Amino acid sequence: MSGLFITLEGPEGAGKSTNRDYLARKLEAQGLEVVLSREPGGTPLAERVRELLLTPNAEPMAADTELLLVFAARAQHIAQVIAPALARGCVVLCDRFTDATYAYQGGGRGLSEARISQLEDFVQGDLRPDLTLVFDLPIEVGLSRAAARGRLDRFEQEGSNFFNAVRQTYLKRAQAAPERYRIVDAAQPLEQVQVALDALLPTILELSRG
Ligand code: TMP
Repeated sequence: MSGLFITLEGPEGAGKSTNRDYLARKLEAQGLEVVLSREPGGTPLAERVRELLLTPNAEPMAADTELLLVFAARAQHIAQVIAPALARGCVVLCDRFTDATYAYQGGGRGLSEARISQLEDFVQGDLRPDLTLVFDLPIEVGLSRAAARGRLDRFEQEGSNFFNAVRQTYLKRAQAAPERYRIVDAAQPLEQVQVALDALLPTILELSRG
C-alpha cells in the first residue's frame, strides 16, 4: 500500500478530533490527499456498532463482547475505507485505532495483551499505523472536558482507575516503540499543541514520500 496511515490516540477530552482536522488542513496545503476517519466507526455499519459500544445499557456488556465489537467495526472500516484509501496513496488520519483497544479493553478492562494481539493479526493482517500521535493529559482535565460536552457515554462513565490504566497503557506503548509514536502534551493551550503538530509536519511529509 502506498499511502500513509496516521492515528491519533489519547484519553477522553484530549482534543484529538480538533487536532486531526488541523493536521488535515496543513497536509492538504502541502498537496496531499487526506482521508479523515474515526473509530469505532468510519462507515455506516461501523457507526451502528459504535452506537452499541457507546450507548449506556441496562444489560452489562461482557468485556469479550466489547472487544469483538470493536474489532468487528474495525474489520468493516478497514475493508471499506482504510485499505482502499491507502491503496490510492492517500494519507489516512484516523481518530483512534487499535492502540485504543490495548488501552481501553486491555488496560481499562484488564483483557490480556495476547488476546488483543491475536485479533489484531486476524483482522488487520500486517496493517499497522505508520505513525501514532498520543495526545496525553491528566485524566481529571480530560474527564472534565468530556463532562462539559454533555451526557457521558458508556466509557466516560467509568471511574478514575479505569482512565489511569488507559493513560498508562498509551504511555507504555509509546515509550516501547518511539519510532512509531509521538507523545503530544495535550494539557497545554490549543495554540501550543498546534505548534507541536507543526513541528511534526516535516516527519510526516518525509514518511509520505516513502
Ligand atoms: P471517542 O472517539 O469519541 O473518544 O469515543 C470512542 C470511545 O470508544 C472512547 O471512550 C474509547 C472507546 N474505544 C475503545 O474502547 N476501544 C477501541 O478500540 C476504540 C477505537 C475506542
